[in-house]
Amino acid sequence: MPEPIILVVANQKGGVGKTTTAVNLAAGLARRGLRTLLVDLDIQGSASATLGATPADDATDVAKVLLDEGTLDAAVVETRLPNLWLAPAGERMAVVDLHLATAYGRERVFERSLRGPLTQSMDVLVVDTAPYLGLLTVNALVAAQRVLIPVSCEYLPMLGLKLLGETLTKLRDRAGAKAEVLGYLLTIVDRRERITTEVEDLLRARFGAQVFETVIRANTQHKAAPSHKKTIFEHEPEGGRGREDYEALTREVCARLGLAPAPKKKAPRKRA
Ligand SMILES: Nc1ncnc2c1ncn2[C@@H]1O[C@H](COP(=O)(O)OP(=O)(O)OP(=O)(O)O)[C@@H](O)[C@H]1O
Ligand SMILES: [Mg+2]
Repeated sequence: MPEPIILVVANQKGGVGKTTTAVNLAAGLARRGLRTLLVDLDIQGSASATLGATPADDATDVAKVLLDEGTLDAAVVETRLPNLWLAPAGERMAVVDLHLATAYGRERVFERSLRGPLTQSMDVLVVDTAPYLGLLTVNALVAAQRVLIPVSCEYLPMLGLKLLGETLTKLRDRAGAKAEVLGYLLTIVDRRERITTEVEDLLRARFGAQVFETVIRANTQHKAAPSHKKTIFEHEPEGGRGREDYEALTREVCARLGLAPAPKKKAPRKRA
């Protein structure tokens, strides 16, 4: 069985659309028939909340898996969407960084948790990360094959992107990370705003074809959907702008990853 592709959504800048992208891209991939596991590595647990799966206090969640250095399989639950599984974050995520600091092989605790059969039966893991470059995010970046970097068109991003690039280089040199950038994604795009054009020009000049052709337009439905605990595909009707944008992104991501839609795999199932 081929191993899943591990795609990490990261940018230490807060509020740039990481969670919105992780949730809707994961949903988009699942809708194309790919077995997709959304992993919530953010202490805020927003991705888990959108899928209506904030874990109970005593449930096994990603935090518990990392604290016990167990396997992610134990935290994986089915979601209401076919082909989409979730590994929810959990309250204790807030103390995981502290635990990782003294753990053996501390940059690779997350990677080691991915060996279980359920996780390995996935086509893709989409990992949502927190807005800081702590050990938790470092664990995600070390496990990643590809990194998707959302960039919001609301501020000039170059300094932050330089820091993220330097961190990736360091992790490759010192921790044996293999992660390559899959692409930069422009989010909260409103072409009537001058800042949008500035950011877009800057990014395309600096990163060229690494910038996704698809952009995610500013759309209040992206704010509304999570409060109804819905992905954009459930919240907007067919033809909705937000939904179209994430459909286009899913197509582009599949093309970049060389993933054909609707492969059939047999694998263990587990109920929430
Ligand atoms: N394309 C968009 N148009 C309008 N609002 C958006 C868009 N994408 C995201 N938002 C909103 O912007 C806010 C930040 O988005 P999101 O939570 O996805 O960012 P984040 O990078 O995950 O944030 P954090 O760093 O806090 O985890 C949210 O309120 C979200 O609903
Ligand atoms: Mg987030």
